[in-house]
Amino acid sequence: MKNIHINTNITAFESPSELPEEDLELVEAAKEACSKAYAPYSRFNVGAAIRLANGVIVKGNNQENAAYPSGLCAERVAMFYANSKYPDVAVVGIAIIAMNDDGILKNPIAPCGSCRQVLLETELRMKQEFYTLLVGATEIYKIDSSAALLPLSFTGEGLKRKKP
Ligand code: THU
Repeated sequence: MKNIHINTNITAFESPSELPEEDLELVEAAKEACSKAYAPYSRFNVGAAIRLANGVIVKGNNQENAAYPSGLCAERVAMFYANSKYPDVAVVGIAIIAMNDDGILKNPIAPCGSCRQVLLETELRMKQEFYTLLVGATEIYKIDSSAALLPLSFTGEGLKRKKP
């Protein structure tokens, strides 16, 4: 028997002013996307902004539906759009922010498991790690890769069938 330890390195910024300028720009883009979310049922608005290697910033927000499971998280709205429009362009980073009736969440938002899985697949597909900025009112967390954001992940290894 042995113990396996998985470590996640998080850089915690205590104020947006500590961020490099390009990250600050991404946070502002996520905030702007957040303000346009369609979340009448949860009243929990989420915004995501993705910086691509070609310099384009793609934004997305959560889109809810009266048939609840038909809605989609902000991260996947943004990432699927980025991947559909720029299928060969790698992602450099993503910023995520959430607001409820009290304003920006105090703690950095933690993306749901399904979104982490989608971020990871993009990273694997592009063969290039990208960072995530998890924005909160008091702190911003930066995590260097999607693999670090989803330890012990399902990567699809073993999924491909042998050719008949
Ligand atoms: N949501 C996101 O957009 N991203 C997350 O990472 C967590 C949850 C959305 C889904 C739903 O519209 C609302 O937040 C409440 O769960």
